[in-house]
Amino acid sequence: MPSHARERGRSAWSPRGKRMKPARRDANDASTWAALAAQHLPGHNLPREFFVDPAVHRHDVDQFFLGHWILAGHIASIPRAGDYFLYDIGFESIIVVRDDNGAVRAAMNVCRHRGSRVAIEEYGHCREFVCPLHGWKYALDGTLQAAPNMPATFDESRHGLAKLKAQVVAGVIFLALECAADFTPLRRDLDAYCAPYDLSATRIAYHRRYLCPANWKLVFATFLDLHTSGAAFPQMRQVMANAEYAVPAADRAPQGELDYTCRREPIRPGFVTQSEDGTAVAPLLGDAATLDSGVTVIRVLSSWIVICSDYAAIVRLTPLEAQVTEMDVTWLVHESAVEGVDYDAPRLSWLWRANVERALKLASDNQLGVNSTRYVPGPFAPDEAELDAWVSWYVARFA
Ligand code: FES
Repeated sequence: MPSHARERGRSAWSPRGKRMKPARRDANDASTWAALAAQHLPGHNLPREFFVDPAVHRHDVDQFFLGHWILAGHIASIPRAGDYFLYDIGFESIIVVRDDNGAVRAAMNVCRHRGSRVAIEEYGHCREFVCPLHGWKYALDGTLQAAPNMPATFDESRHGLAKLKAQVVAGVIFLALECAADFTPLRRDLDAYCAPYDLSATRIAYHRRYLCPANWKLVFATFLDLHTSGAAFPQMRQVMANAEYAVPAADRAPQGELDYTCRREPIRPGFVTQSEDGTAVAPLLGDAATLDSGVTVIRVLSSWIVICSDYAAIVRLTPLEAQVTEMDVTWLVHESAVEGVDYDAPRLSWLWRANVERALKLASDNQLGVNSTRYVPGPFAPDEAELDAWVSWYVARFA
């Protein structure tokens, strides 16, 4: 693991070991958020507070992660009934589990008694969740089944874990806690773009996680650069050299209440996939009949699904603290592929390891710059139109 890639930790770690000043603003004061949003000059980058303020971070988690459909992971990580994983966002923790019918369920990992985390291990398998503090037992769907020492009048049915909505498209798990937006358009578009690759019939070939010492919006913007110009990403330039981009403008814009984009792009002429030498690195996915020299790029809020004909990569960006973002990357191959026979993990993961490690460095340097009291938001260039549109969407929703 490179020196700037760290094992995941939940300490109050911040860039260069320095703690930011605690926030003074009232996180529930809507007028405060509106006043802050009003400081944004259209066509320009965001003001400093959006990147450094812990109160803004908490508001972001509420507004954009608990209040939006979010990509949580892939069903290949929980193949059996009772398999679960935890998805932590800021102070929040979500249990994502397979129930006995194979459906994906999700609930807040907060006991309805005195608030303990119910599930502790990041990945696990169980028949029920038992709170470690006083033994309240929850079914896989979060329903409270038993509450020791409570009086006979206690109503278990009113004390289940807070449930999230869960949807699975092409094997990818999406969750929503407080989001009334219709999932239908997102499902329709993801189904259409993913159909040739049948990502529900894949296995995890490789997985890496990094902690980036930067605000999630800086990391996000760096990834938008990667997918639009790629100028600061040598390996991306290598696989996309001389490719002719023809991206419909409508595919680039945030989609109203739901922020997502889908597109198909050609890769470098002569390359059949995004690999170091341009040759295939794994068996074909799904029904894709040929290696067609293209890549499908889907973004949902701050996460990406990138699909070549022979492998897919899911890049999930999650805010953990005001200046700490988790970068979780999962590589998928056909479910029948065998490591060492059909694919080699280092060769398969070459591009996205390089991209993510480069993004980590660029975003962390960006954070150090905007931490300066002399940082002034500058204007976006014409080729930053996608970021410009996203920032406008973000500011409108922030207030
Ligand atoms: S806090 Fe969970 S059982 Fe008491």
